[in-house]
This record gives sequence, structure tokens and C-alpha cells, in this order.
Amino acid sequence: MTQPANPSHKGVIFSGMRPTGLLHLGNYMGALQNWVTLQEDYSCIYCAVDIHALTTLESGEDVKDIKPNIEDMILDWLAAGIDPEKSIVFVQSHVPEVMTLQALLSMVTPLGWLTRVPTFKDKVRQMSETEESVNYGLVGYPVLQTADIILYKADTVPVGQDQVPHIELSREIVRRFNNMFGETFPEPQAMLTEAPLLLGLDGQNKMSKTLDNHLDLAGTPKETTKRVLTAFTDPQRIRRDDPGSPEVCNVYSLHRIFSGAEATQTVYNECTTAARGCVDCKRHLADSINDYLKDLRERREEIKARPGYVQEILQEGGKRARAIAQETIAEVYEKMGLG
Ligand code: TRP
Ligand code: SF4
Repeated sequence: MTQPANPSHKGVIFSGMRPTGLLHLGNYMGALQNWVTLQEDYSCIYCAVDIHALTTLESGEDVKDIKPNIEDMILDWLAAGIDPEKSIVFVQSHVPEVMTLQALLSMVTPLGWLTRVPTFKDKVRQMSETEESVNYGLVGYPVLQTADIILYKADTVPVGQDQVPHIELSREIVRRFNNMFGETFPEPQAMLTEAPLLLGLDGQNKMSKTLDNHLDLAGTPKETTKRVLTAFTDPQRIRRDDPGSPEVCNVYSLHRIFSGAEATQTVYNECTTAARGCVDCKRHLADSINDYLKDLRERREEIKARPGYVQEILQEGGKRARAIAQETIAEVYEKMGLG
């Protein structure tokens, strides 16, 4: 992309999350916290991608969860510090222009680019489908994602490693479009977060709701403690008076993130000398996490108590997003010989 003429000009950030409902600590450490920080230096646009949620629909029943899931997720965003005064916060389907752009971009996207994306192959397998039986909508997932980003001419996309192939594809689609119809869109860049990978309570896999190894951001302290007590620890430490190995224990890794340097040193010393048991160690961790999330949880309750507030934010965000989207679509129509 060409450098903006004014070097103080902020870049435009776009990112999205599928509305899966309550967010967990891994979502917060891996993405949301970073989204909040980026608000200081960029124009940010954050989107609840409800149309993407339809790409893996299994039955007509699934759609009844979408609206409450959006509400829960947006409450988490706002509680974490996403500020609707600074950023545009909106729901994908409130800006139907994204589907227009998706359809138009599909004219410059070879099918082979889409079927070779690793996330596509994974989803087909997970859904026990074949590339022939799978919905057209799922094949087009990255085209819709590209439309999301470039509808607002965003140049920077904070995402996790798993999304890098999608952004690469977005860049290819943009290059092809620009070549055919003239320079229109910036090539979006993935911005990887440096957050430490948070393993779930199983100590094996990345924290995830599907694997049920997660801690809800919005959980109560009691729920959090109850779940932390189920965490896997050093598997070699069987009896209370066995010394443990913090290096292989995810509870210890979490202490390092949430308990502060001094307490973490104490955990290390007491674990390796069998001066503390795993149950107490997990209670200690639960307290640290509950402390860490205290303010966020309080803010969430405050926001939740304001009737209609989230919907107002989303209406307003949708309006602002739509105004930009309509300009882009007018330009694309012109370039593609439509209208
Ligand atoms: N595919 C992304 C994910 O599963 C969500 C997403 C949709 C997205 N549109 C986007 C992310 C645009 C960044 C930019 O996490
Ligand atoms: Fe892990 Fe703590 Fe048990 Fe040591 S005492 S093995 S760090 S849970």
C-alpha cells in the first residue's frame, strides 16, 4: 500500500469475532486486550460477524442463539474497554453492503484459492462433510472476511496465527481486484498479537469453549474457583508430599501471568519442596484470576444494568460503518461497470 501523505495519519484497523456468546480468558489475553490498546493509535472498527456464524449452521435451531450471543459478546468487549466513542463497534449483518462486496469479490476469486485454505479443509473434516457436499457459503468464508476488511479500506488486521492464511488470501484478492479495475483497496496486513498462548484447564490445548477447558471472563468468582480446581497439574505429582515440577504444570504457567512475580516465586519454591499442595495452589490461582478480572466484571454488571445500552451502541456503530460502506460500494460499482 502507498504510505499515507500525512505521516501522523492513523491506520485503519478492522477485526471481527464470531458471536459465540460469553468470551473466555483466552479470548481476552489473546485478542480483546490488544484491541483495547490499539484504540489509542488507530481508527478501529470491531465487528460481531454474525453472517460468518451462519457458515457452519447445523440446523435451523442454531440461529436462535445468534442475537443473545452477540449481546453477551459485546458486553464483554465494552467491559474490557472497547470504547464506542473511539471505535466503531457494530454487527456485520447491519451493514448488508458487505454481502454485495462479497458477491462482487467472488468474481475475481478462483475457486482453488478457497478450497486449498487449511481452515476450509479443517472445517469440512470437523463437520463430517466433503468438499462437494459442503455449503457454498462455507467455501466463500474468506471472501466474506475480505469484504469485511476492505469495505472500510482497513490496512491492518489484528488476528491470531490461525487467521494468517485468510489474510494472505485477502491480499491476493485485493491484488487481483486492483490489477483488473485499478488501485482501489489497500492490501491488508495481519498484525499478530504477542500474547502468551493460554492453555486451557486441561493443560494440553489452547483455551477453548468447544473443548470446555475455559474460564469465562464474566463468570462469578465462585464459578471461576470451581473450574480452576478442576485444572490438571503436574501428572507425576501423585501424593501431597511429592515435590512437584512447576515447569510442566499449567497452573504454574497461569500463576506467572496472573499472580505477580513475587507470589510466583513463592509458588515455585513451595511446589518444588512439597510445602504446598495442588488444591491450595489452585485456590491461590483462582484468587489471582478473580482479582485480575474484578474491575472488568464490575463494569460488565454496570453496563448490563443499563437497559437498551448495548443495542444503542450497535445501532450507532452500524450507522457509522454503513456510511463508509456505501461510499466504497459506489466506487466499486463504478469500477466494475455497474449502476
Ligand atoms: N474468521 C475470523 C475468526 O474466525 C473472524 C473474522 C471474520 C475476522 N471477519 C474478519 C477477523 C475480519 C478479522 C477480520 O476468528
Ligand atoms: Fe502445579 Fe501448584 Fe501443584 Fe506445583 S503445587 S504441581 S505448581 S498446581
